[in-house]
Amino acid sequence: MKESEDRYPFLRACRRQATVYTPVWLMRQAGRYMKEYRALRKKYSFLEMCKNPELAAKVTLQPIEKFKLDAAIIFSDILIPLEPMGVEFEFAKGEGPVFHHPLRERKDVEKLRVIEPEEEISFLMRAIRIVRKELEEKIPLIGFSGAPFTLASYIIEGGHSKNYILTKSMMYQDRPTWDALMEKISRVLIQYLNAQIRAGVQAVQVFDSWVGCLSPADYEEYVLPYSKKVIDGVDQTVPLIHFATSNATLLELMKRAGGNVIGVDWRINIREAWERLGYDVAIQGNLDPVILFGPVDLIKREVKRILDQVEGRPGHIFNLGHGILPNTPVDHVAALIEAVHHYSKR
Ligand code: CP3
Repeated sequence: MKESEDRYPFLRACRRQATVYTPVWLMRQAGRYMKEYRALRKKYSFLEMCKNPELAAKVTLQPIEKFKLDAAIIFSDILIPLEPMGVEFEFAKGEGPVFHHPLRERKDVEKLRVIEPEEEISFLMRAIRIVRKELEEKIPLIGFSGAPFTLASYIIEGGHSKNYILTKSMMYQDRPTWDALMEKISRVLIQYLNAQIRAGVQAVQVFDSWVGCLSPADYEEYVLPYSKKVIDGVDQTVPLIHFATSNATLLELMKRAGGNVIGVDWRINIREAWERLGYDVAIQGNLDPVILFGPVDLIKREVKRILDQVEGRPGHIFNLGHGILPNTPVDHVAALIEAVHHYSKR
């Protein structure tokens, strides 16, 4: 860590250094629950906003202007690198991402392009530079990517899935194709994250949102080597947060794959999660996003419960256990952030 960055509670917590209070940011903190976001979304599609550096920068800063957050996260999506790789998709209204030609065969993997993120996703790198300038060193900026499994599952299933039958069938029945796909995605992700770091992000988060559908044995066999390869390939001078949902049974394996911080959802007590991980990694989490619907007393109580569980040990970053949901009351978000800072003040 650069000496000048030593004063940010968020970066200090990533390194398990003591902080004046517990830092807090929220996954998906820029989004539909904010009226400022919805106003822009009336004029532009989601992907238009991601691909326009000025708009992406503006949206990134919307929650920062409103709340006392300890980190910003660049506005983008885990699916953004897929389009230049040759995987077409769109966000269908109310359905989430839909892929037109799901990948099913070896020859489809051969066709995937290993991209040059600096040139082919230059809009993101430019958005990062704009945000860094606008933030004026007030708080650090986080970059991100999907993890190999979660991206592979979208490409193979053609969208979100309940049982991951196609993804797992490729793993179990066509190992060479699975390995070739995971290898190619991993190579892209290393370049993609390092390009974001060169553009100026001060930490990165890898989202393995859907990996909780796997048994620990399958995670170890089919996924861990690739997640590890990505994490090992990323510039070690910035901290890396390795996040998944429904990962209570995968914690030890996720730690083996790597990351300075492991992100956990609300399905496990954070005390137990950290005990199992060991105190040589930092931890991020883990409020159920639905708690934010309130009332405020409940939010405060749950914040306190989580803080009590970690007992002020250095290396806790407060966050939700998954992304903030549309329709979350904005004043409750403010109350959450204030409660985290208030109850954790040292
Ligand atoms: O955290 C932030 O504020 C940065 C922005 C961010 C978005 N997506 C913006 C977004 C981040 C970090 C993501 C990551 C992402 N994208 C994940 C991993 C995190 C997670 O939730 O598990 C996943 C799985 C995706 C893929 C994705 N993007 C889906 C499934 C959807 C549709 C579902 C939904 O929530 O609408 C998106 C769209 C999306 N990504 C929106 C935003 C603000 C909503 C777009 C809109 O305005 O309609």
